Amino acid sequence: MKLIRTGAEWNPLWLNHLQKNHQIGLVPTMGALHEGHLQLVRKSKQRSDLTVVSIFVNPTQFNNSEDFAKYPVTLEDDLEKLSSEGVDYVFAPEVREIYPTPTKLRFDFGDLERVLEGKFRPGHFNGVGVVVSKLFHIIKPHRAFFGQKDLQQVGIIRRLVSDLSFDLELEIVPTHREPNGLAMSSRNVRLNPVEREKALMLFKSLESAKSGLFQGKPWTEIQKQVVADFEVEPLAKLEYFDLVNPETFEAHSEFSKNRKSSICIAAYIGDVRLIDNMPLVS
Ligand code: PAJ
Repeated sequence: MKLIRTGAEWNPLWLNHLQKNHQIGLVPTMGALHEGHLQLVRKSKQRSDLTVVSIFVNPTQFNNSEDFAKYPVTLEDDLEKLSSEGVDYVFAPEVREIYPTPTKLRFDFGDLERVLEGKFRPGHFNGVGVVVSKLFHIIKPHRAFFGQKDLQQVGIIRRLVSDLSFDLELEIVPTHREPNGLAMSSRNVRLNPVEREKALMLFKSLESAKSGLFQGKPWTEIQKQVVADFEVEPLAKLEYFDLVNPETFEAHSEFSKNRKSSICIAAYIGDVRLIDNMPLVS
């Protein structure tokens, strides 16, 4: 496995692979890798001739400087994990490689960024759009792999690929969970044991909402109950719990088995912000 720090280092390697007609898979990450990330890596290994994993904690997508400062950085561990997965290249640029000067570029994803994560993290999807575009331009992959865990990010990246005519295929990998249901996330390491237990509220709310909906309970009643459950829990603060169209992210006020929908949740547990979602009909 080779560690690359710059696009200039990658270019001759890329050309060499291109001449050999190799299919390149890219897995963009911010490091602090866990099993969820490794599922994406394994998928890329199956579907590509070579896999590039990028590790870059992208400052422009953090709307909260404390969240950025506290974001876990574990490069050595990450490299070990990726090497044992048989990854070919790790692209881990410095901030000045990606942002030689502070970018003024702004994406507007319209309605998609005015709801859920877009509403609660202003500027976040702009930062994601900028960095993912740069990674696509630098690495020039044939396929790129993203997790369903960040459902709205998938919607944003689909738009980016279509609007900017990136010549690549997106592959979406289902959310990988702890045995108890907690969605794996780099931020989970910041939870203390009590908070880790409380963090299960996200998955449990999604699960009970899903079964409630399939038993015919009205969505508004389920939503109210979850809001009330969070209100009485001092360690937790709910930001949203919405039933949405998983492509437009428009909120539904009623559930129907005949259309695609997902439930999306975001909540603070202590001072750690977590998100999760559950598809209902695919
Ligand atoms: P990061 O949070 O490191 O996630 C990297 C990729 O792993 C994303 O596509 C994310 O959806 C996926 N992922 C995270 N947890 C997962 C889980 N439990 N199961 C399956 N997939 C999971 O998302 C980002 O980084 C950044 O926004 C990035 C796209 C790299 C741009 O900076």
